[in-house]
Amino acid sequence: MNEKPKFFGRRKGRVIHKAKSFLLDNFLPQILLSAEKKFAPAECFATPKQRYSLEIGFGDGDHLATLSQRQPDTGFIGVEVYRNGVAHLLSLMTGLKEGNDSDLAQEVKLLSDRADNVRIFDDDVRLLFAALPDASFDKIYLLFPDPWPKNRHAERRFINPDNLRELSRLLKKGGILQVATDHPIYKKWTLDVMHKNPDFRWTAKCSDDWRNPPADWAETKYQRKAIREGRRPVFFEFERV
Ligand SMILES: C[S@@+](CC[C@H](N)C(=O)[O-])C[C@H]1O[C@@H](n2cnc3c(N)ncnc32)[C@H](O)[C@@H]1O
Repeated sequence: MNEKPKFFGRRKGRVIHKAKSFLLDNFLPQILLSAEKKFAPAECFATPKQRYSLEIGFGDGDHLATLSQRQPDTGFIGVEVYRNGVAHLLSLMTGLKEGNDSDLAQEVKLLSDRADNVRIFDDDVRLLFAALPDASFDKIYLLFPDPWPKNRHAERRFINPDNLRELSRLLKKGGILQVATDHPIYKKWTLDVMHKNPDFRWTAKCSDDWRNPPADWAETKYQRKAIREGRRPVFFEFERV
């Protein structure tokens, strides 16, 4: 992609307080990725991992923080544009919270029960695609993407033929694209677009397979919001064929 793609979401929300600003300034640079040069996921980590996963738009990072703790042998690349979300993930990974200013004088580290297996790209994921080689990932997560429900905004939906071409290239054969959504328009849109794409196969055998979260699931902020507001999320899994 030669031109910088247009991003329609929020880059920043409420004021980021002391501890999270400290994490953005002092901890993020240690795990931050750049898309300026090409790299393979294995090159981002101190030791090679058994598997590699990409989470696109991790929001507050609840899913990424939990899965990376459960799966120390997987290398995770998390991508999020929203600064407050990145700061929240860093707080989950280090345990540093607002209020304890004496912690800010010390060297900030990962929580002792965490492996060093998360790297962050803090911009539009479409800027990262070209830096990554084919078959980089075993799994790609796209959880509760912005639904852009109005017809005139349909071209903003992340599930679209251009992005799928990249996701298909980045997934290993047999790799999984996991998509969750609670929006009726996005549910139908996803299935329609995915059905037309010969690179992917919907793995569901019965309705329980997409009505219930997969076994390795961790709840996300938008999932909790959807349930609170009476919407029922679905969990689609597509295999790269
Ligand atoms: C509706 S939120 C869902 C957040 C989280 N996955 C959850 O379930 O709570 C969608 C997130 O995707 C991020 N996002 C949207 N498009 C993106 C892109 N092209 N690259 C990186 N992040 C993106 C937004 O900034 C936003 O935080």
